[in-house]
Amino acid sequence: CGIIGYIGSQDALPIVQTGLQNLDYRGYDSAGVALDSGSIEVYKREGKIDNLLDVVPEASDANCGIGHTRWSTHGPPSNANSHPHTDCTGRIAVVHNGIIENYDELKAELSGHTFTSGTDTEVIPHLLEDELDGDTSPVEAINAVVDRLDGSYAFVVTIAGTDAILAAREDSPLVIGHADDGAYLASDVTAFLGHTRDVSYLEDGDVAVLTDGDVEIHRGGCPVEPTVETIDWEADAAEKGGYEHYMLKEIHEQPQALRQTISGRLDTDIGDVDLNLNIPEEYLQSLEEVQFVACGTSYYAGEYAARLFEKIADVRATVSLASEYMFDGGRDPSRTLTIAVTQSGETADTLSAIRTAAEAGARTLAVTNTLGSTVTREVDDSMYIRAGPEIGVAATKTFASQVITLAMLSVYTGKRCGSLSGGRASTLLENMRAVPGAIQQVLDREQQVKAVAEEYADSDAFFFIGRDLGYPVALEGALKLKEISYDHAEGFASGELKHGPLALVTETTPVLAVLTEGSRSEKTLNNVKEVQARGAPVIVASSMENEKFVDELFKVPSAGLFEPLVANVYWQLFAYHVADSKGRPIDKPRNLAKSVTVE
Ligand code: G6P
Repeated sequence: CGIIGYIGSQDALPIVQTGLQNLDYRGYDSAGVALDSGSIEVYKREGKIDNLLDVVPEASDANCGIGHTRWSTHGPPSNANSHPHTDCTGRIAVVHNGIIENYDELKAELSGHTFTSGTDTEVIPHLLEDELDGDTSPVEAINAVVDRLDGSYAFVVTIAGTDAILAAREDSPLVIGHADDGAYLASDVTAFLGHTRDVSYLEDGDVAVLTDGDVEIHRGGCPVEPTVETIDWEADAAEKGGYEHYMLKEIHEQPQALRQTISGRLDTDIGDVDLNLNIPEEYLQSLEEVQFVACGTSYYAGEYAARLFEKIADVRATVSLASEYMFDGGRDPSRTLTIAVTQSGETADTLSAIRTAAEAGARTLAVTNTLGSTVTREVDDSMYIRAGPEIGVAATKTFASQVITLAMLSVYTGKRCGSLSGGRASTLLENMRAVPGAIQQVLDREQQVKAVAEEYADSDAFFFIGRDLGYPVALEGALKLKEISYDHAEGFASGELKHGPLALVTETTPVLAVLTEGSRSEKTLNNVKEVQARGAPVIVASSMENEKFVDELFKVPSAGLFEPLVANVYWQLFAYHVADSKGRPIDKPRNLAKSVTVE
């Protein structure tokens, strides 16, 4: 989602509109603005910014305004669910990024209030309305509200009659822009880069008050002087957060994306997950088969998930390329759950497969990044991976979020089928919680990966190998490399090397192997020795001690069954740096599209 706010001597409307247009590249499903000229006017629309522009006035003399582009996480895209959200009196307007985890409880406590949307955000203006009832100041009211919120958020508020914009953040970015004509506030500097380059970043726990000509920041209850930095990025680099490509930015966003994926969903103490699904328990207990249908990277997430389902939930799990899917005889549709894994929710092959399953009588579930996408309207249940918009054609952070979402689903299924104990579930959930930190450690070693990628970039071909959970990662590693570098890359099950592919292995074909927990690394190590004996350079992502058999070792921090997923980040960085060293158009590889809506 994107946020923009302005207060100052200029008209706010054009500044907010341009800010929203500048945030356009991030992807969104609805947009809205609130203008404060003593009273609040709100305009919001589902869909493109043009839809919003059709309903905002041509001009407004308001000098204070806030705007939002939304990427849905609670409640599908609709006019009502678009931000800003207001309180019952219409005096308070709020835009918000992130997730309020305890919104259900808060909503129950706000029993006298009328809610008009299905979002978690709407609790904020109503809580503020109650807090502002006495002689509480706006800052005290925001502090009192923040004390009651669990989750991650950046929210921005205008309150009619205060001539101020207020903001608070926890785990979600907000940046203030200082200019002679007033103060700006945004989730991302790109929104106001045309007006000022002097900025102050808010920290977690900060509350900010912007008035015409002044910016106050309250930290730990005390006012602090804002530290002002000058941005020297051009607009294009700023959109990519200073990274050269969206893909690299999205690789680096994985820890944050995964924190959002698991936010409010794991109960490590009792060893269970809260997924907000209405699948009847009796149905899960009688389940005979879980089928995954998907394409491309989502298919490999399905391959990873099928193995997790067998291990964690003890349920038979199969994976089909959506374009090859058939509902064969010999299966009982009433005991089959077919899961469409699709980032976009629009892939034609996947939609066709899920329709086949539904027609056969199977129960259907979508696991997607896109609320309100076509797939979610066709299935019995949906789950959201909450990775945030992904712009690079080659999927990266959405793969990680898909795998973790499906891992949570396997815990959910295992617990309800009685095949997973609370103790084992708790360990798995702790392992999931370790993944963002483990991936951060991998990202911190990017320079090592870059050096290795550049050393081997001109190889004749690249072979990725792995077993068990390491096998889908081998396939995904090879896919990433071929997509963006145009080099010949293949993923093989390590055990299959000797049945054919070994004939391709030479001194100029590096072999990249996964040796971690969940990937039967002792056996893969034998395959590593086989290729090494034939002179191939061996690059290993490993949580074991294998220095003596390998040419390059990338260390994988401990994360239980998710170590192969962590290892995958090395393959993403490797693919990126091979492609970058060749000057490829990484975010838009030739002949490929982000979402393929034809069969
Ligand atoms: C396209 C993209 C791939 C993606 C696949 C499936 O081929 O280029 O990156 O994995 O579609 O997309 P979906 O949106 O269904 O996950």
